[in-house]
Amino acid sequence: MSSRSSLAFATRARAATPGATPAVKRSLSSSASSSRRGGAVGAGARRGGGGKNAAFSSVLFSSSHSHRHRQHQHRMGRRGGENRGSIGRGFRGKMTTMASLSSSSSSTMQQNPDGFAQIDLFSPSKINLFLRIVRRREDGYHDLASLFHVIDLGDEMSFAKSSSETKDTLVCEDASIPLDESNLVIKALNLFRAKTGIKQYFWVELKKTVPSGAGLGGGSGNAATALYAANKLCGDVATEEELLEWSGDIGSDISVFFSTGAAYCTGRGEIVEDVEPPLPLTTKMCLVKPSIGLSTPTIFKALDLDKRSKAEPLDLLKSLNADGCTYENAINDLERPAFSKLPELGELKDKLIDATKEDGAVVFMSGSGSTIVLLGTDTVPKFAMEDDDLFKSKARLISRKKGEWFVPSNV
Ligand code: C5P
Repeated sequence: MSSRSSLAFATRARAATPGATPAVKRSLSSSASSSRRGGAVGAGARRGGGGKNAAFSSVLFSSSHSHRHRQHQHRMGRRGGENRGSIGRGFRGKMTTMASLSSSSSSTMQQNPDGFAQIDLFSPSKINLFLRIVRRREDGYHDLASLFHVIDLGDEMSFAKSSSETKDTLVCEDASIPLDESNLVIKALNLFRAKTGIKQYFWVELKKTVPSGAGLGGGSGNAATALYAANKLCGDVATEEELLEWSGDIGSDISVFFSTGAAYCTGRGEIVEDVEPPLPLTTKMCLVKPSIGLSTPTIFKALDLDKRSKAEPLDLLKSLNADGCTYENAINDLERPAFSKLPELGELKDKLIDATKEDGAVVFMSGSGSTIVLLGTDTVPKFAMEDDDLFKSKARLISRKKGEWFVPSNV
């Protein structure tokens, strides 16, 4: 079987060394071993279509997190007198579409009641199908090699230009989300202004579904979506490649959201190389996360480099392409430090492996945790369903066309 990695473009965010070409540019043969201990998910089958125009899908089985968050006092509404939209108040769909601004089916551009163009976007998250840590760097970061895939567990975001000449306005009903400059959304808007020289402030509403401290890049997805939206509202002054490059300035895993969905990422994670999705987008998937989140710096610090996998990242990529997702290639070097910091998480993974054996699922941790991915099944095991402290969600791998933004799968 020949490699299906198209490697359409490779772009690195600004902070990385210029000029280097990631090794994956070499053509990939797919003679990877087919010996398997566990099941293989996705081998042989090919891509399904990510649904476009799907409404924000309600994929939660139950979310103690979201549920709890909704019990907090709502903080939506007019703050500081800035103009705002009215997502969630029967507004969407009633307004006239502004044809001159509406550029794709992945976003709705409308006029809000204050007369400003408003764009509503899905803000996706990601999983890591494998994650190898290559080395510890002098700047405290780690070089990694990982196959990231964007998924359709996501938040809803609305954006409009603000009349303020001094600040952005971020509203979010989830009281645990900071609304100040520490929020990656505000950092992204500051970055957009700094890079483009455009003195435009924005109103942003964020409706959270993606838990934090989850290894799902939820906040990074919000930042990428904010960069995309600000650029749209300002008339596409920057290219997507520029947005990708700039995004590396404010975080390591924002850049992946400017890929087309499946990306081989190196450097800190900000060197992004598009690959063809290695698994069908129809592949069943569930996410299970304990209520405790994990701090990425803490997990990286706890990593014992001597205890990493010895697998070559490019061999993992080949194997993923040839065999689908298996226990041989679903390797995450951060599992060991995460389980050492949170032993219950290792126990949860073991229980999930046991409970999904029959389904042929492959079970692994995403990013620095604490989300456990069940790839190959839609069924959350009974013990997990009955545990209200666990976040549970169905999810699907998604991709996008360049020039359009991500939308949830319609599967
Ligand atoms: O870049 P980002 O803000 O997402 O990283 C958060 C923290 O995670 C970093 O400060 C660093 O401690 C750790 N990290 C790392 N190596 C990476 C990415 C993140 O050590 N490649």
